[in-house]
Amino acid sequence: MKRGLLVAGFFSLLVLIASLRSLPRSRMLSGVSYNQIWWSDPSGRRDFEQCSWWNDLQHALPGVSNGYIIVDCNGGLNQMRRDFCDGVGVARLLNATLLLPQFEGTPYWNDSSGFSDIFDADFFIETMKGYVRVVKELPPPYASKKTVLIDCQKKKLFDYVEAVLPVLLKEKVVIIRPAASQRSDRYPLWAKASRCQACYKALRLVQRLENTAQTVLDAIPRPFLALHLRFEPDMIAYSRCTYSNLSKASLDAIEAARDNKAPFTGSLAESWRNRGKCPLTPGEAAFVLQALRVPTTMPIYLASGSGLLEETAFSRVYPNIYRKLAILGADALKGLHGNSKAALDYYVAVHSDIYVATYFGNMDKMVVAMRAMHGSGKTLVLNRQAFATSVSSGLSGAELAQRMWEVHSSSLFTGRNLPLPDCFCRSTGRTRTKNSD
Ligand SMILES: *[C@@H]1O[C@H](CO)[C@@H](O)[C@H](O)[C@H]1NC(C)=O
Ligand SMILES: *[C@@H]1O[C@H](CO)[C@@H](O)[C@H](O)[C@H]1NC(C)=O
Ligand SMILES: *[C@@H]1O[C@H](CO)[C@@H](O)[C@H](O)[C@H]1NC(C)=O
Repeated sequence: MKRGLLVAGFFSLLVLIASLRSLPRSRMLSGVSYNQIWWSDPSGRRDFEQCSWWNDLQHALPGVSNGYIIVDCNGGLNQMRRDFCDGVGVARLLNATLLLPQFEGTPYWNDSSGFSDIFDADFFIETMKGYVRVVKELPPPYASKKTVLIDCQKKKLFDYVEAVLPVLLKEKVVIIRPAASQRSDRYPLWAKASRCQACYKALRLVQRLENTAQTVLDAIPRPFLALHLRFEPDMIAYSRCTYSNLSKASLDAIEAARDNKAPFTGSLAESWRNRGKCPLTPGEAAFVLQALRVPTTMPIYLASGSGLLEETAFSRVYPNIYRKLAILGADALKGLHGNSKAALDYYVAVHSDIYVATYFGNMDKMVVAMRAMHGSGKTLVLNRQAFATSVSSGLSGAELAQRMWEVHSSSLFTGRNLPLPDCFCRSTGRTRTKNSD
């Protein structure tokens, strides 16, 4: 870590010299340089940190458990993780025992890797001691019992105690699908603390996977920028956005990924885009990074699936690209499930010098939070709304670049564009404590 910082410091000095030479004075934002926004305070203040209220906030667990909660986890790795974390909070709220979930059979990933293939189950159980009871398997009387599923995602404005507790007390084993929209504001602090502890402290990759991820990390020259470039066919189809300048191959792939939701057209399409709903194209992402003075020689780790469209629009500008496929080789990756591959991207992203996301999805939310936990370097979610409204108001070229610089450099200073979960608080400004993983 220390060595990384030294290297980063040396590199930033070089970059500073280079940028002072190549950038006209007028393109500096009131004296703020590339170097300052990207490499300031590598060891000092940070924008967010873990809130102190959940640091070791344990609460005597009730003598008896009200039953077993199983969290039904679906979707990609980080969506499953999000639901699982919510489920831990619910289990604690209901004084129940948590069963480690299955991470499998998900339609999107076609994956069969379970929770323990990704996360260190024993470490999880150990780290949750005093927060919530966790078991790996149901005890015999319940193991073969048919279980009741309560889909909380389908319920609006409900209360877990009202909706789930009576069923739990009667059946003793309940599967819940947590409601992502359900606010946990009303939870007692000790239930919230369990959720924070589970999500941000107790989930660590199994050693085997972490070693592989570390191999990827070690192969990328530092300092590097990890870019989560979300521009895959399913993403674009889901966004219902249209793009005017894509290749025929991209348009076909997007068309094939569409379900019954047609893209918006006309003024609806424009207002949708101006609300920041449309993922940036790789070309647009490269434009914004350039506007933010990220040198085109910067090593960039592309944290993306294999379906990324229009990649050359990005790599034309930033050719120094690293991906797990090229580093590990196709054979090594072939043996890995989708969840494991997603875990590799997640790990590299968390430990990168700079993390930039072009969209704010489940992975980005998790990575941004973990970077706040670790006190890692700069983290930025590109502002799609500012980009769209600037283009729509007629800005282009140097003017657009200047606008992007203004919009993003201020948020890079304040961290204000990072919506973090309620386990995190704005930093009080003191120097961070040494944080190891
Ligand atoms: C859980 O246990 C605590 C005491 O530890 C109690 O105050 C609370 O009412 C219990 N909640 C439920 C839902 O059983
Ligand atoms: C997913 O699994 C189903 C059934 O096993 C199979 O028909 C389908 O081709 C698979 N899809 C992908 C993308 O691998
Ligand atoms: C459209 O795409 C072409 C080729 O990819 C590129 O040269 C051109 O600059 C793009 N035009 C706009 C307006 O983005």
